[in-house]
Amino acid sequence: MSNANLLQLTNNDVWTIQDAYEGTLILGGNGSGKTSASGKDIAKAFLKKGFGGLVMTVKVDEARLWQRYAEETGRGRDIVLVQPGATAALNFLDYEATRSGAGAGLTHELVNVLQIALDGGRERGSSENPFWEDSVAQLLTNSIDISLMATGSVSLPKIVSIIRTAPLSPQDAATLSYDLPRREAIMASKGFVWADSSECAKFLTQAFENTKGSERSADFRETYEFFIREWAQLDTRTRSNIVATLMSRLSGLLRSPFRQLFSEKTTAPPDITFDGKIVVLNLPVKEFGEVGRYAQVLYKTIWQRAVERRGSHGRPVFLWADEAQFFVTKYDMLFQQTARSSRAASVYLTQSVVNFRAALDSGNSVNISDSLLGTLQTKVFHANACPLTNEYSERLHGAELQSVGNMSLGAGGVSGGFQRMMLPILPAVKFSSLRKGGSANNRIVDAYIYQAGRIWKGNDGKHNKNWLVTSFHQDR
Ligand SMILES: Nc1ncnc2c1ncn2[C@@H]1O[C@H](COP(=O)(O)OP(=O)(O)O)[C@@H](O)[C@H]1O
Ligand SMILES: [Mg+2]
Repeated sequence: MSNANLLQLTNNDVWTIQDAYEGTLILGGNGSGKTSASGKDIAKAFLKKGFGGLVMTVKVDEARLWQRYAEETGRGRDIVLVQPGATAALNFLDYEATRSGAGAGLTHELVNVLQIALDGGRERGSSENPFWEDSVAQLLTNSIDISLMATGSVSLPKIVSIIRTAPLSPQDAATLSYDLPRREAIMASKGFVWADSSECAKFLTQAFENTKGSERSADFRETYEFFIREWAQLDTRTRSNIVATLMSRLSGLLRSPFRQLFSEKTTAPPDITFDGKIVVLNLPVKEFGEVGRYAQVLYKTIWQRAVERRGSHGRPVFLWADEAQFFVTKYDMLFQQTARSSRAASVYLTQSVVNFRAALDSGNSVNISDSLLGTLQTKVFHANACPLTNEYSERLHGAELQSVGNMSLGAGGVSGGFQRMMLPILPAVKFSSLRKGGSANNRIVDAYIYQAGRIWKGNDGKHNKNWLVTSFHQDR
């Protein structure tokens, strides 16, 4: 095999690194052989070629599986586990804020990253309300800005304490401009002075001092107005809804082990994958639930942005998402559009196209799932009982004129002939008879492979079809 080849599918058909950059989707029912057959072969091919990579996990034994793949391909020492108690960690806000090249648009970028990640961690099926999204973004923007202006840095604990102690009424807000005797009088009568007990107020005061006379003072003014006027005057219910929406997503990240892994040190930035490390996010959704999921989505988003920034040079990298319905975001679609030039190979494994639709499309918004499905150029179809997935594949392969024999018994006896008809090239029913591995099948797993615009030659060189059925072998 030449250096760019990853899989030899037939004597005449190879699947190359360039093909891998164009994205891969492996579909198949539960137990159809996605993980142990086609997935395993692609994973090991990446490792053998020296790819760096990022692995998301849903099942508890996935990290062990990757450790084994890595050992079997001589890459054992390249595995970096992000897991409770490990030293590998990413303070994602600090990483984004301090990386070189981060400039004036920093706050906006940070809000963007958080929104993508928190969106990815959204309770599936919950209705989308753009008002909350906008207000949440506004609150985040101002909290990040005030943290940057007051302390020159930003962290999740800081943002959260600003949000938790923001003024709850115009009376609260007004205390910031009161002199000391007046504050003491309020303290004596009410027992509480917002300006003296609020982290938000302290950050505002510090930010004012820091930006006085500089070009940032106009930015400070904006942020000040937001907290002191707009926020303090919001209807109580509206305000607490916004805070609740945001906190339900952020607070999980502040608890162990997530706080230590994502808000303290940075020892495992995405950049280590460019040197050949394979970062395994061993926070499996089956064990850590929702927060495990959006913590992984967060790391993935930061990683994708880092991959895009590094330009068109460097070591190939891969993104691995088994049970991908837990991790897909609309950013995946954007990322895939430039993946070839950033030398990034993404592989998504999932049961059905329905899973992607449920994860990505809410209400009547744009059809993100179809766009993502469309951008992943190689599709591997394993045995599947999902009619929608099988119909999807049928449609993808198209129809062609076929001769169909017919025979009928009429008054004149048996008559018959041939009729030319447009029929599916690969009827949906084909996907129900593929082998699923296991000892009953001698560990053999079948799958159809489709690649947009590609005609497969087959072992004899004469196949010339847009479908190819291949067999994969499970490990002993
Ligand atoms: N190395 C192996 N040898 C034999 N059978 C296996 C092996 N690995 C998995 N299996 C079995 O093969 C089937 C396919 O497994 P798997 O690849 O995990 O399916 P999927 O990822 O599509 O859910 C399952 O019945 C599983 O128990
Ligand atoms: Mg699997």
